[in-house]
Amino acid sequence: MSKIQIMDHPLIRHKIDYIRRKEVGSKEFREIVSEIAALMCYEASRDLKLKDVQIQTPICAMTGRELSGKKVAVVPILRAGLGMVDGILRMIPAAKVGHIGLYRDPETFKPVEYYCKLPADCEERDVFVVDPMLATGGSSTAAIQMLKDKGVKNIRFLCIIAAPEGVEKMKEAHPDVALYIGALDDHLNEHKYIVPGLGDAGDRIFGTK
Ligand code: PRP
Ligand code: URA
Repeated sequence: MSKIQIMDHPLIRHKIDYIRRKEVGSKEFREIVSEIAALMCYEASRDLKLKDVQIQTPICAMTGRELSGKKVAVVPILRAGLGMVDGILRMIPAAKVGHIGLYRDPETFKPVEYYCKLPADCEERDVFVVDPMLATGGSSTAAIQMLKDKGVKNIRFLCIIAAPEGVEKMKEAHPDVALYIGALDDHLNEHKYIVPGLGDAGDRIFGTK
């Protein structure tokens, strides 16, 4: 059974609906995508384990808590996933970063792989795969399969906007992967773009259109 969490925090909702507006330019779009990623990371990291640690405050000794156990890796799906990396690293600065390059063929809508570079010990880490858009689910399911083929077991997927079609595909292909979704939209159009969505996330982040 997949764990699926759709964000219901008003700050996240406000920021997502703000960047949907077509007049929002790349600089502002990028900054807010990063903020949304940081806020979503807060929810997606809720189950990370803590351990006791002895510390000394200016007043006395105490048993404090720090993150324990497995370390974290952030893996953006290129290109648009890059926009979410900074926000996650601001929350978990010790995380390592891997990259998976996939683009969606404009005719077949199938993902085409062009790059994969992961931290050497990736299979021992909690991996946060990030991509702003989950549309057909082709890119995210393929990226997660690439990680599993390399032995990664603990994977969560964070996206800013999802279509129901993509959520279904992820649930079917990777029921063990927890999904953190900023907003669940209505449907895909004939070009497999999310409706209402925000357009092409990569182009909006990098100003390429
Ligand atoms: C976008 C987006 C996802 C993918 C989602 O990337 O960032 O990776 O499409 O669509 P899917 O769920 O139907 O696979 P795109 O292929 O446009 O590449 P880009 O990030 O390089 O622009
Ligand atoms: N990729 C995007 O960037 N936007 C969509 O709506 C669908 C796929």
